[in-house]
Order: sequence, then structure tokens, then C-alpha cells
Amino acid sequence: MNSRKLLAFALVLGLGMSAGCSGEKTDKPVSFQKDVYPILKASCAECHTPPDGEGYQKSGLAVSTYEELMKGTKMGPVIIPGQSLNSSLNRLIEGRPGVNPSIQMPHGKVKLPEEKLVMIRKWVDQGAKNN
Ligand code: HEC
Repeated sequence: MNSRKLLAFALVLGLGMSAGCSGEKTDKPVSFQKDVYPILKASCAECHTPPDGEGYQKSGLAVSTYEELMKGTKMGPVIIPGQSLNSSLNRLIEGRPGVNPSIQMPHGKVKLPEEKLVMIRKWVDQGAKNN
């Protein structure tokens, strides 16, 4: 293989691996404190902080601590540990098919960049631990 072909091959391999959704559980552990919390703080806290946050008032979801986040909304949890596919928090921030754009999060703002979505998804799939 010449070097150009090798490069193309490496690219395809790399893309394939980063796009794959299987195997995420075996990736290196995502930390709630170091990886996930800063994202919530930067993108969600302005509306999901009691008592005045609009998102908190409407849904009951607060993201200031791990405990609050896991408690979820007035209706119940938004995270099911180990199951990002069934967790409404992941559904809403990823804007998956079937999610009404009017409740996509962060509300009325630009979607989070893919790497942050993946980070939160991995954290949930790894058990949504307070680590
Ligand atoms: C600009 C304000 C704002 C920001 C920023 C925001 N939210 Fe919200 N959020 C809301 C509002 C308002 C609601 C209530 C939506 C409704 O029911 O109409 C809500 C509701 C929710 C709900 C519950 C939806 C339901 O099923 O009832 C979740 C989960 C949620 N937000 C997660 C997040 C996450 C995660 C972030 C950060 C990535 C975020 N939000 C950022 C305003 C915001």
C-alpha cells in the first residue's frame, strides 16, 4: 500500500470507530465531576437552577448537583443509568427523531457540539455514576 492509500484507510477506520455506537461502554470512564458537570453548568444551569430558572420552574429539573439531576423533573427521572437510548435527557439534547423541536435542549439555543453529546451519552451508558 502506498502512503496515500494508507492514509485513506486510516481515515475510514478512524471515522468508522468514532461513529460506531457499539463499544462505548468499554471506552475509558467518563467522569461526572470532570466531564459532564462542566457541560451542564455551561449550557443548562442558567435555566435549570432553582428557584428562578425558567426550565426549573416549568419542568422541575435542576442540574446544580448530581442528586438533583438524577431526581429529574416533576414527572420523574430523565436519566436511566446504562440506557442512554431510553433516557429523555439524551433524547432532548440530541434532538432525536420524534423529539418536538420546541423542547429540544438547550431550549431555544444551538445544539451542543457532537463531542459533548457523545460524552454525556457515554456517561449514561457507563451507569451515570457520581464519579
Ligand atoms: C434557555 C433556557 C434553557 C436552557 C439553556 C436549557 N433548558 Fe431545559 N428546559 C427549559 C424549559 C423552559 C423547559 C420546559 C419545557 C417545556 O415543558 O415546555 C425545559 C425542560 C427540560 C427537560 C424536561 C423536558 C420534559 O420532558 O418535560 C429536560 C430533561 C431539560 N430541560 C434538559 C436540559 C438540558 C440537559 C439542558 C442543557 C444542555 C437544558 N435543558 C438547557 C429551558 C432551558
